[in-house]
Amino acid sequence: MSSRRELGFNCTDSRSYAAWDENTTFAKHLYALAAGQIASLKSLDDASKPAVLLDLGTCDGRSTAPCFRECARHIRERDAGAHPPRPQRPVVAIFEDHRHNEWSPLLTRDLKHELGEGVFPLVSNTSFYEEVTAPGSVDLAFSNCAMHFLASSEPPGTFQKALRHVTADASLAEDAAAIAAFRATAAADWQRLLLCRAAELKPGGRLVVSSFAVDERTGFHWGHGGTGASIYHVLAECVQGLVRDGLLTSAEQRRATSPAYYRSLAEFTAPLDDPNSAVSRAGLVLASAEVRHFACPLRAELVAQRAAAAPVDAAAYAQTFVEMLRCVTSWEVVRAFGSGSGDEARPADERQRLVDRVYADFAARVEARPDDFSFDFVLCHMVIEKS
Ligand SMILES: C[S@@+](CC[C@H](N)C(=O)[O-])C[C@H]1O[C@@H](n2cnc3c(N)ncnc32)[C@H](O)[C@@H]1O
Repeated sequence: MSSRRELGFNCTDSRSYAAWDENTTFAKHLYALAAGQIASLKSLDDASKPAVLLDLGTCDGRSTAPCFRECARHIRERDAGAHPPRPQRPVVAIFEDHRHNEWSPLLTRDLKHELGEGVFPLVSNTSFYEEVTAPGSVDLAFSNCAMHFLASSEPPGTFQKALRHVTADASLAEDAAAIAAFRATAAADWQRLLLCRAAELKPGGRLVVSSFAVDERTGFHWGHGGTGASIYHVLAECVQGLVRDGLLTSAEQRRATSPAYYRSLAEFTAPLDDPNSAVSRAGLVLASAEVRHFACPLRAELVAQRAAAAPVDAAAYAQTFVEMLRCVTSWEVVRAFGSGSGDEARPADERQRLVDRVYADFAARVEARPDDFSFDFVLCHMVIEKS
């Protein structure tokens, strides 16, 4: 198990990762939330020490670098506006991800110059389920769309026909047991992750999280925002098509169960709401938490075209849609074909053909009913302070 793609941590298995940059604005909300903490961050009151910023689950750092720049700008403004004004303090910016991340896009960038004068980039391949930095050393930690990954790349159970717990059938005894195991594992992992942050944050430091979530009020989650098809349902159907056609075994399909979990607001806040929990006793206090729904920008264009009675190119919409979908979900489909070694693994070219088939099937469905498909983001935004 050498590659991140096989382990299931990949989110860039497509030419079109750039399409996310162009078509999504959700990361900007995290920057605003993170940078907005700086003015009132009590840990920064001691200006004699460098400010330390930490991004958890950074991937290629594409979303992170602007957030670091924005935070550094706010720190400079804060220092300049102090009475008397303080000299500019150094800012340490740590890019963190799992050791199986595809690191080369980040490591080959000129981070020092991208982040600007007085900001010192560092990279850590630790995992956010471990303490990443020395105790009491971080002023502001943040994370965008990464903490749905569970600590182990092996899921705590497998589903009969679903890739994710949100689309598993709770009425099937076997799936119900797996869903319960996911829920318990996600709770234990979340506590472990928070205890690591409790250790590494300075007193008065904060953690800002934007994480995929399930909106308990509507049942919506990423790819299922109320405007038609649920992406994970359809994707699971496309994988199921391979089983029906005898191209994939049921055991292989079960392996496609993702080691990921979309928590609800209640699940995110549970350890912080309980004053006797290990997390509260470690000094973490919830400042704010809300679930937000970001409508799909791609679909907004389609809706505008429909409103203007302009022609819609359904094939082009399907192609863009599926390229983006593939970019963030193909690691889950690929899991079906094993770890890439051993008797059970299929040859790489065969896997590729089968994965291509899954997405071709998906594209045909989008082309037939483009208005049914959208990438809505449902995210939980949280601010947590170390007392
Ligand atoms: C969807 S990407 C988000 C990347 C980035 N934050 C962004 O906004 O573009 C999720 C990232 O979480 C990382 N990840 C998964 N498990 C992790 C862990 N235990 N520790 C650190 N990073 C992890 C993955 O490797 C991947 O790079």
